[in-house]
Amino acid sequence: MEIDFTTTSPSDSYKILAALVTPRPIAWVTTLNEDGSVNAAPFSFFNVFGADPPLLGFAPGNREPGVPKDTARNLRRTREFVVHMVDEDLAGAMNLTAAARSYGDSEVVAAGLETAASVSVATPRLRDAVVAMECHEWGTLEIGRNRLVLGLVRHVHVRDGVLDPDTRYLDPSNYAPIGRMESPDGYCRTSDRFRMGRA
Ligand SMILES: Cc1cc2nc3c(=O)[nH]c(=O)nc-3n(C[C@H](O)[C@H](O)[C@H](O)COP(=O)(O)O)c2cc1C
Repeated sequence: MEIDFTTTSPSDSYKILAALVTPRPIAWVTTLNEDGSVNAAPFSFFNVFGADPPLLGFAPGNREPGVPKDTARNLRRTREFVVHMVDEDLAGAMNLTAAARSYGDSEVVAAGLETAASVSVATPRLRDAVVAMECHEWGTLEIGRNRLVLGLVRHVHVRDGVLDPDTRYLDPSNYAPIGRMESPDGYCRTSDRFRMGRA
């Protein structure tokens, strides 16, 4: 099959790209609502892009034309956020926080999640996430109707046992992030790993 992407509709482009560019990691992002409550939502248009400085990006879209999703709305005001990695244990809770709720109606509360104070940002983190990365927004690129938030990682919380304290190498047996597969409900586990030495 050949697909001419210069004429593809946005919904088809989404369907095709989101199905083919998989698995994707999921950024589970907390931001602060205006009333001080905590907003949480997952974004699989997400990755890390460098280490000097430590850089990541994710792409929160609009709820409807011209109306940003709550995460993007909060970021405009606070310019900070926390990215959590989603593992198998928290997959169901992550899914609950993807529901569209009215602004200020905290997904964190609705999903029964506990928060904990962050170190370098005012936005709380999700207490039970294996990994929480506190970020300051470096800037946001608006390309057509896409919005790409770039953040600098300032502080990282990792559950004990995941990284070796001396070498900083990962113990894969203690880390089970899930990946996003085809929309709307495809996911994968990362339990079937293999190694391949560098050529
Ligand atoms: C696994 C998963 C990945 C998602 N990835 C994205 C994404 O990359 N960009 C996006 O705009 N919405 C994405 N969504 C949908 C948002 O999570 C959803 O619209 C959410 O309600 C936004 O919340 P907010 O308004 O509190 O920011 C994803 C949903 C799920 C379940």
